[in-house]
Formats: sequence, structure tokens, C-alpha cells
Amino acid sequence: MKDKVTIHTLKRFKQIGQKICMVTAYDATFAHILDQSGADVLLVGDSLGMVIQGHESTLPVTMDQMVYHTAMVARGSRRAHVVADLPFMSYQVSVQDAVRNAGRLVSEGGAGSVKLEGGAEFADTVRAIVRASIPVMGHLGLTPQSVHKMGGYVVQGRDEEQARKILDDALALEAAGAYALVLEGVPLELARTITQSLSIPTIGIGAGRHCDGQVLVCYDLLGMNPDFKPKFVKRFANLHGAITDAAGAYFSEVRDGVFPDEDHSFKATKGIRLLTPEGGAKLPAPEAAAEGEKEKVGPIYGIPV
Ligand code: KIV
Repeated sequence: MKDKVTIHTLKRFKQIGQKICMVTAYDATFAHILDQSGADVLLVGDSLGMVIQGHESTLPVTMDQMVYHTAMVARGSRRAHVVADLPFMSYQVSVQDAVRNAGRLVSEGGAGSVKLEGGAEFADTVRAIVRASIPVMGHLGLTPQSVHKMGGYVVQGRDEEQARKILDDALALEAAGAYALVLEGVPLELARTITQSLSIPTIGIGAGRHCDGQVLVCYDLLGMNPDFKPKFVKRFANLHGAITDAAGAYFSEVRDGVFPDEDHSFKATKGIRLLTPEGGAKLPAPEAAAEGEKEKVGPIYGIPV
């Protein structure tokens, strides 16, 4: 196994100009695949409220759900740093809540750090979580937990006043001890200025190529939803098509009686007598397994290793 990525690795990546590759993951199987594919950071994003749970926003996601998914991702990953989102209302009410909930993501979920949305108004919160030895990633620009305040999922920082505020927020989060920042849905010129103004790495989503790294929702980059195609998403695969074809082929074989064939079936022990539905007895087929021989199935599902 290559060395585990830490927040110090990410800072070094910025210093040497190596782009940071971050992607969301919500379960152990995806975490395992993405980790092995070379992800530096796996984000257990509260986007799971939309792509896993089917909500229209991230707002309904709870702390218990975040802990549950974070634990799965932590179990599935080896090299990547795991960062987990603090969900809506888990850190906004009080600094005590924020520290306690950040602690849960680390102690129960196994995360290496936490992420929260918001700027200078959360500097004290960031400071308190960092004081508890939990690294914090900030998140500025289009912050989905503020969907109602923003009036929808709208690009942020297009005018000078908004851009100045986002830059000031970035500086405030860095000063409060954040180790990295997600910049979402901001013009690439603003992302470049912020990236050049900070010593901590910026990770962009819909923020252009000048950020120190990039993040995408795994289901988006894999093309799981053909109806979702915002400007900032590039599909690197068509898993919707691949899954549809594979599942369709399976259903056809089941309907046609082709699957399961002999190769995918177990055999009875040689010599046993089976009762027929009519109550009579008949012998199993001659090619049945030898008496006493145990057929090992192994793990019954594909568990990531
Ligand atoms: O929740 C999430 O997945 C995120 C990323 C899109 C940055 O915050």
C-alpha cells in the first residue's frame, strides 16, 4: 500500500504543484474502487441526501446518517484521506454542537477530517474544532446548505462585492486553521485569485482549472444519471447505460430460463435420496458431489478487501 494521504500530504501537493484528486464516496465498495483508482481524498458528502436518498436538497441529511456512511467509506479505503461533511444544523446552532458532531464523524465514523460550509461567520467554529485536534476543510461559493438563502443553486461571486466577500471568507477560514477549502460554483478568475492568495490548498467544483485540486460527485463523473448534465460536470463513463444493459441481460436470462445454468448451481451429495413432491423417493443425478464433501461458497457477497 502506498503511504496514507494526510492533511500534510495535501499541503505538500500544493507546494510542489501536484493537483489533488478528490471524489465523493458513500459506501465501502465505491470507496474501495475509488481508493484503488488513485483518489487522494474521499469526501463523504452530504450530497448523499440527493444522489443516495433521492431528496431535492442536502438539507434533510442527519448526523446519524453521515456517521453511518462515513464508517462504510472509512472501511473501504486504504490510502485516501477521508473527509466527512457536517450536515445542515449539526454545526450552525452552537460551537459546542459543532465540536461534538465533528468528534462523532472522527470517532464513530473513522473520518480523518470534517468539512463545513460557510465563511468568516464560522471562523470561531473552525477554530474550536481544530483546537479539538480535528482538521477542518472549508467550503465557499455555492454552498448547497444555503440553497434557500441563495435562491437556488446559483453561481456565486460574479460581481465585485460578492467576489470580495468570498476572498475575505477564504482568508478568514485559513486564519482560523482550516487545512483546505472547497470552492464551488464560482468564476474561474475568482478561484485563481483565492488559490494564489492562500497557502492552504483549494479544491474546485465548478470553479475552473486554477484550483489546487478538483472534486466531483462520483455518480456524476461516472454518468449514473443521464438527465443530470450541469456545465461543470464531465462524464468519464456511462454507467447508467452499462448498468441498464447488464441488468437487462440478467432479466432476459432469468425470463428465458438460461440463468442459472449448471455452472452457477450447487450439486447435492452423491447417494442421497430426495423426496419428490408426490412423496416418492428418487436418486440425485450421478454427477452429484461426493458424499461428505462440503462445497465452500466463500463470502456470499462481493465484500471489498
Ligand atoms: O456534498 C458534497 O458532495 C460536496 C461536494 C460536491 C463538494 O460538498
